[in-house]
Amino acid sequence: MAQVWSIVVAGGSGRRFGRLKQFAMLGDRPVLEWAVEACRPRSAGIVLVLPAGLDDPDGHGADAVVEGGVTRADSVRAGIAAVPGDAEVIVVHDAARPLASPALFDAVIDAVTDGGADGAVPGVPLSDTIKAVDESGHVTSTLDRSALVAVQTPQAFRADTLRRAHERDGEGGSGATDDAVLVEALGATVRVVPGEPGNLKITDPDDLRAAERFLGPAEAGA
Ligand code: CTP
Ligand code: MG
Repeated sequence: MAQVWSIVVAGGSGRRFGRLKQFAMLGDRPVLEWAVEACRPRSAGIVLVLPAGLDDPDGHGADAVVEGGVTRADSVRAGIAAVPGDAEVIVVHDAARPLASPALFDAVIDAVTDGGADGAVPGVPLSDTIKAVDESGHVTSTLDRSALVAVQTPQAFRADTLRRAHERDGEGGSGATDDAVLVEALGATVRVVPGEPGNLKITDPDDLRAAERFLGPAEAGA
């Protein structure tokens, strides 16, 4: 079995949420601990990336804790630096997605270890019609929805490919909102596996309420 390490990025400031959403309670534990726990079954080790300057002695279930950077990509790079050199696969997961199932980790990891992809990401079909809009608010085109997917984390990569992609991006880099885009830029193969509609991303306070509803009264402790 390939050695898999996971990085949970929780180094953001939660500007849209209004506070550090990774520490908001979801059911009986903080959002970020759900994300760490979901990584556990397939991970030899987990690196948790927390906001720089946060004095938090709790490891939140991870094996190592490091300080993040200004952008998400900077935080991923800080996490990569703490992954042992013999890891073969690195999974990157947003702390802001507490409801990803262990089966989703299996799907992205197996696509890399057994399926021969350099990277694998979960994607879900779009239900809204998507239009491109110019700066004055006018529609410039309507995109073909059938060729598009909304991409989630966890995202799995061959460790050497992910390291190379992030070295090329460099500190303060492109502001990439996921890691796959940096791997794609290398010309490496990124496969899309079926994502989970319930794998909500917590962005606004409403998203946390939706996640609570998704858990149901028993688990949410309501
Ligand atoms: N993240 C990070 N380091 C950063 C920015 C983001 O580790 N410098 C993490 C967040 O903690 C989150 C994930 O990347 O788990 C996705 O980012 P996002 O949802 O944008 O979270 P925030 O950046 O915290 O939110 P906002 O953009 O509203 O400030
Ligand atoms: Mg952000």
